[in-house]
Amino acid sequence: MFVSENLSVNEKGHLAAGGIDTVSLAEQYGTPLYVMDENLIRNNVRRFKSSIDKYYGGQGLVCYASKAFCCKEMCRIMKDEGIGLDVVSIGELYTAVKAGCDCEKMCFHGNNKTDEELSYALECGVGHIIVDNISELIRLEEIAGEKNITAKIMFRIKPGIDAHTHDFVKTGQIDSKFGFALETGEAFEAVKQAVSCKNVILRGLHCHIGSQIFDIAPFEEAAKVMLGFIAKIKNELDYEIKELNLGGGFGIKYLNEHDPVPFETYMEKVSQVVKSSCAEYGITQPFILIEPGRSIAAPAGITLYKVGARKEIPNIRTYISIDGGMGDNPRYALYKSEYEAVVADKAGEERTEKVTIAGKCCESGDLIGENMPLQHAESGDIIAVCATGAYNYSMSSNYNRIPKPAVVFIKDGQSRVVVKRETLDDIIRNDI
Ligand code: LLP
Repeated sequence: MFVSENLSVNEKGHLAAGGIDTVSLAEQYGTPLYVMDENLIRNNVRRFKSSIDKYYGGQGLVCYASKAFCCKEMCRIMKDEGIGLDVVSIGELYTAVKAGCDCEKMCFHGNNKTDEELSYALECGVGHIIVDNISELIRLEEIAGEKNITAKIMFRIKPGIDAHTHDFVKTGQIDSKFGFALETGEAFEAVKQAVSCKNVILRGLHCHIGSQIFDIAPFEEAAKVMLGFIAKIKNELDYEIKELNLGGGFGIKYLNEHDPVPFETYMEKVSQVVKSSCAEYGITQPFILIEPGRSIAAPAGITLYKVGARKEIPNIRTYISIDGGMGDNPRYALYKSEYEAVVADKAGEERTEKVTIAGKCCESGDLIGENMPLQHAESGDIIAVCATGAYNYSMSSNYNRIPKPAVVFIKDGQSRVVVKRETLDDIIRNDI
């Protein structure tokens, strides 16, 4: 009935998440409120891990892409599950360090890392600095030399694969700000240069073709292309690339009509491609890394809002205004991303209307969605927007000086705050 497997309707006719009444959560913690189901997060991680065990003999590492949802408690959970992290800024790295995560299991990304970020990553002992361009390689060689630390790196490669997803989240094609191009020979030249560096060790190659991808074929294609490149490096430079990072991007269910491929199938198919390409090229099977973000966090989250105004414009549309909006979820404004919404206190009723859910920002484009099927909603009702666990809190802003909501984790019938609601004093804390 709902997009995420942990949602149901309880005996009061309310929406329950992980068995907990969401209307009670809204009363207890206030709205807007991000709610994340810890059991579902852990279960998603375990599915990725066990699929690597099953289809690739355990020769791989899951690195949760923390850009999807990052806070100390989330990092602690990943540490507890024994997986690594993909971090993309000094802020994400710092959060993970403060949560006690093992930096050897981290991949540090970014197309324009600053010297400060590179220095900090070296000092922390990040296991995989994913070098994006030649100037970064040169700077890293220099900084690592000054610190007398060997930088462990991977190169980000554009495999030239066009994944069928939104233009803003595509990254594998040649016209991308991320990584080295294969077609032009740029990537091969970079490998030659890295091999001759004194303070850098090239552990592997990385690619990431985009996000919210439903097809398996582009992932298979990307793996093939990358292994072809690994073979070329072996044959022409006699250098063995031991690790292959295949990125993230696995699609999830935001609407009932979405039908994502289970992760297990992805891992099965991609493992087959890796094994058969290695046999074909006569190269050793690399250690595999994957970086799922959305698929771990998104299905575990919902956002709860309180309805304020209801505005019916005859023959045009009905606006339902909520106490949050693009500040806590900018994804409709940015990508026209669609969501399932439920009136949490009427979750057992039919969805009889199609409405526009509007946020409270001073901006007409501040919408959570249009034409959204919904139960009849009135002032005081609680609306739950589903599958908001990824790229909502992490992309939130204080536009209009609206404080950010709290994040509550639920687990085994209990709830706890993991990120406090911002106060008005938080809003002015850096003002002089
Ligand atoms: N690895 C790399 C190098 C990435 O750039 C990304 C996402 C991931 C892994 C994780 O991808 P995921 O499994 O979450 O699809 N803000 C956009 C998504 C941007 C994704 C950026 N990179 C959105 O809200 O849809």
